[in-house]
Amino acid sequence: MKYFDEIEKNALSRHIPVMQKEGIEFLIQIFKDHHCHSCLEIGSAIGYSAMMMASNIDDFEIETIELNEERFLEAVKNIAENGLNDQIHIYLDDALSFDCQQLIHQQFDCLFIDAAKAQYQKFFEKYMPLVKDNGLCIVDNLDFHGMIFDIEHIKNRNTKQLVKKIKRFKDWILNHDKYDVEYHQVGDGICVIKRKEKR
Ligand SMILES: C[S@@+](CC[C@H](N)C(=O)[O-])C[C@H]1O[C@@H](n2cnc3c(N)ncnc32)[C@H](O)[C@@H]1O
Repeated sequence: MKYFDEIEKNALSRHIPVMQKEGIEFLIQIFKDHHCHSCLEIGSAIGYSAMMMASNIDDFEIETIELNEERFLEAVKNIAENGLNDQIHIYLDDALSFDCQQLIHQQFDCLFIDAAKAQYQKFFEKYMPLVKDNGLCIVDNLDFHGMIFDIEHIKNRNTKQLVKKIKRFKDWILNHDKYDVEYHQVGDGICVIKRKEKR
């Protein structure tokens, strides 16, 4: 596996949240197992997860959206410096208002949601239609450092609100009649969501 340890270390030292190694390795394995070749990522940060995927999965293209301009510019630089411009296309925009017509692909093998946690359901509803019928969606961080299991004891009001929203999304998707959800206790909790097979 090719790693970008310097970029990862550098991001963490500045409190830029990038996927944990265990999580990204797991994600790459899932995409390989499902023969995925295209991914739409919501939340690029400085391009670390996109670069890990592009460098470790054969014949793989990613389109990724980032809201923060500083991070976007750093991602553009990292992607170019590592010769990944042909595989990663990055957009500077708010994914909630982004015009999907700009995307190169209109259908993806997988969707990876890794942006503002309070908006998971909105991202899912907007972008899941761009995922092929047999494709999948991965959502990271659904345990939110274990807090989701003990909401009543969270003192900070904003954190409590956020964790409640994450829990609401988790409960919504786990009980959805159109989707099957596999939950994996990897990193901070990863959900693999697929459409239920049509009978
Ligand atoms: C957890 S980080 C992404 C980490 C990245 N996937 C990685 O592992 O290298 C989340 C990113 O989502 C971005 N973000 C938050 N809300 C967003 C939105 N509405 N549209 C696009 N990006 C957003 C944040 O600026 C942040 O950089």
